[in-house]
Amino acid sequence: DEITKGGYPHYMLKEIMEQPDSIFNSMRGRLLYEEGISKLGGLQGYEDRIVRSQRIIISACGTSWHAGLVGEYMLEEYAGIPVEVEYASEFRYRHPIIRPEDTVIFISQSGETADTLASLKEAKKKGALCLGVCNVVGSSIARESNAGVYIHAGPEIGVASTKAFTSQLVVLSLITLLLARKKNLSLIEGQNIIREMQSLPEKVKKILESNDQIEKIADEYMSCRNFLYLGRGYNFPVALEGALKLKEISYIHAEGYPAAEMKHGPIALIDENMPVVFIATKDAVYDKVISNIEEVKARKGRILAIVNEDDDYIEKLVDHVIRVPKTINMLQPILSVIPLQLLAYHVAVKRGLNVDQPRNLAKSVTVE
Ligand code: G6P
Repeated sequence: DEITKGGYPHYMLKEIMEQPDSIFNSMRGRLLYEEGISKLGGLQGYEDRIVRSQRIIISACGTSWHAGLVGEYMLEEYAGIPVEVEYASEFRYRHPIIRPEDTVIFISQSGETADTLASLKEAKKKGALCLGVCNVVGSSIARESNAGVYIHAGPEIGVASTKAFTSQLVVLSLITLLLARKKNLSLIEGQNIIREMQSLPEKVKKILESNDQIEKIADEYMSCRNFLYLGRGYNFPVALEGALKLKEISYIHAEGYPAAEMKHGPIALIDENMPVVFIATKDAVYDKVISNIEEVKARKGRILAIVNEDDDYIEKLVDHVIRVPKTINMLQPILSVIPLQLLAYHVAVKRGLNVDQPRNLAKSVTVE
């Protein structure tokens, strides 16, 4: 056990720390810089059909569903194909309209989640092209799909998914790049995405150097009973994922919300006891997020913000900041989620909980 944990006290920490490598492994051999495109062997022969899809549907559960939400933003922005993201458990029972011109992507770390597998069988029956994005090679979802892309994150043992999430995002970026270039993204723009992808492992290493700082911040928040996580745009799914990590392993109630929706309800919860985690990297909605931060501050909420390295404005407004390097908006979630994984980890450890095997949860949910 100690050996497989590689010297770390928990699998979860080991898996968080492995991300420079797991992210690299997800893209290794798959980026063609000269052509500004990705090469995905598992999709060979299906590319044109995917490009011609009327619609892409993404079906998944849990953390994989959050990855799907980021995928929706990427694919719509760059590939110009309408995307819908579905909870597999809802999708399969609500008489979904699935057409042969649709492509359905099933995202699953384990490749065994019962609801995701059942939704795959349903979509296949209706003639859609079914693609699997799985980690476990030879798993049921990988086998049942028409084609797919492995994320190659390596075995993930901790129940709370960490490195699989960032690798799912890498693979969704590769799929986006492929489709976008086959549609109308220019060579220069494709090459820009590739350069940004290639710089991710180094940037992740830098974030991981903040581990001690995040552990100290966890001290200040470990006794809180509730948390709100807020983000907009590409960072909205990151807010959901950050809140899920905290719930799963520290048993603290946490809600993720699109920052602007706060005024339609959650703002009523804010007082000096309510910590709010903002994911506030510099993107198209940055100024709007600043306004949301000010609204929370005016109500005396405690704020922890995930900001870009060169941001010297937000730290004046909030209680704590954790810095992450800048990348293009589409890839920013791969970086901004990492401090939230570490925060959840340290809070849970400080509360004396079983981080790798939280109560009531299973790594792979094979019941419906
Ligand atoms: C369980 C796990 C989660 C995971 C979800 C979906 O709830 O605890 O970490 O995100 O299942 O699993 P999958 O293997 O399909 O990605």
